[in-house]
Amino acid sequence: MSQDQPISNNNPKAFIPQPYRVSDGFGGLDLGPRDMMRDKENPNMLVPPPTDNGLLPNLKMSFSDTHMQLNKGGWSREITVRDLPIATTLAGVNMSLRPGGVRELHWHQQAEWAFMIWGCARITAVDWHGRNFIADVGQGDLWYFPAGLPHSIQALEGGCEFLLVFDDGSFSDLNTLSISDWFAHTPKDVLAANFGIPVESFNGIPQEQVYIYQDQVPGSIESEKIQSPFGTIPLSFKHSLMAQEPIVSPGGTVRIADSSNFPIARTIAAALVEIKPGAMRELHWHPNNDEWQYYLSGQARMTVFGGNGVARTFDYRAGDVGYVPFAMGHYVQNTGKDTVWFLEMFKAPRFEDISLNQWMALTPHQLVQSNLNASPELMKSLRKVKWPVVNY
Ligand code: CO
Ligand code: CO
Repeated sequence: MSQDQPISNNNPKAFIPQPYRVSDGFGGLDLGPRDMMRDKENPNMLVPPPTDNGLLPNLKMSFSDTHMQLNKGGWSREITVRDLPIATTLAGVNMSLRPGGVRELHWHQQAEWAFMIWGCARITAVDWHGRNFIADVGQGDLWYFPAGLPHSIQALEGGCEFLLVFDDGSFSDLNTLSISDWFAHTPKDVLAANFGIPVESFNGIPQEQVYIYQDQVPGSIESEKIQSPFGTIPLSFKHSLMAQEPIVSPGGTVRIADSSNFPIARTIAAALVEIKPGAMRELHWHPNNDEWQYYLSGQARMTVFGGNGVARTFDYRAGDVGYVPFAMGHYVQNTGKDTVWFLEMFKAPRFEDISLNQWMALTPHQLVQSNLNASPELMKSLRKVKWPVVNY
């Protein structure tokens, strides 16, 4: 093969993707070193639409490209500002626990928001008044622990996998305040004085942070409940997102969880979006903060528009994280055969979204028409005044 050969991206049988755009003949063959699997996964990055332009930083990171932390009882991996430097507002951790596996008793300086991807776990916490909390969470459930409150997660029968999101991009789950770590780094005579027991009673404690460990699957939640003299926490740390009635659009659904329906979640707002094959999450932006995305299934592309002629397109698939800086315009289009499910999250008390269509529909039409030299068809399409979160 040489650069003189005719280029075609249209033979699906022997499909070798090339950095060549059929529509305008720009580009050429890539005959040098390449990662063919990656090129096939990222068709809109290998051959960007001609509308892409300018300098936008990287807005994509895959959990598959991160360090995997393996422990007895489970694993974890994280995407923080160290992996995706633009993502300063939120950091994410993907964790799986085997049946009975425990993310040990710990706390941190950031609030923790979570989505259960599959399986079941038991979560516990205690607040500043000594009010306690225990709940079992299943697929599609959320939890939220305010910053500084101690908590734990233990997988039930069958194990589980979940996404944790923290309201600080520089967070690391490997750098939290853990009970085992504190014990290991406190003089034993101080531990003895604190609990009023002999120093030898602490001979068996872990020498360092345990992080994740294997335990037995716990008994029923009733058998584990402890009656606090101070009562239980007033606002639940758990929210059943999938039990929520979705907002239904022609191209999919959306379920929003923020402080309006999950009152404890004061610093993180989220939407779970479903985009059917052939559909897209419409052109929009968010007037309150950056968007941190986690793709649960399917394949999608997103172009982020940053003003002054700047736009960049990325491909995403299950396990990827996407990011949109504050107020920048974007859409998410399903480019695969399967349904796309993704989470969009904001370091904000409320979910806020401005729809391009809605903005245009609610602005004097003569103004919109003259500004864009808009065709009669475009003006007619604006009569659908609603909140179409996902469109065909
Ligand atoms: Co935590
Ligand atoms: Co968005």
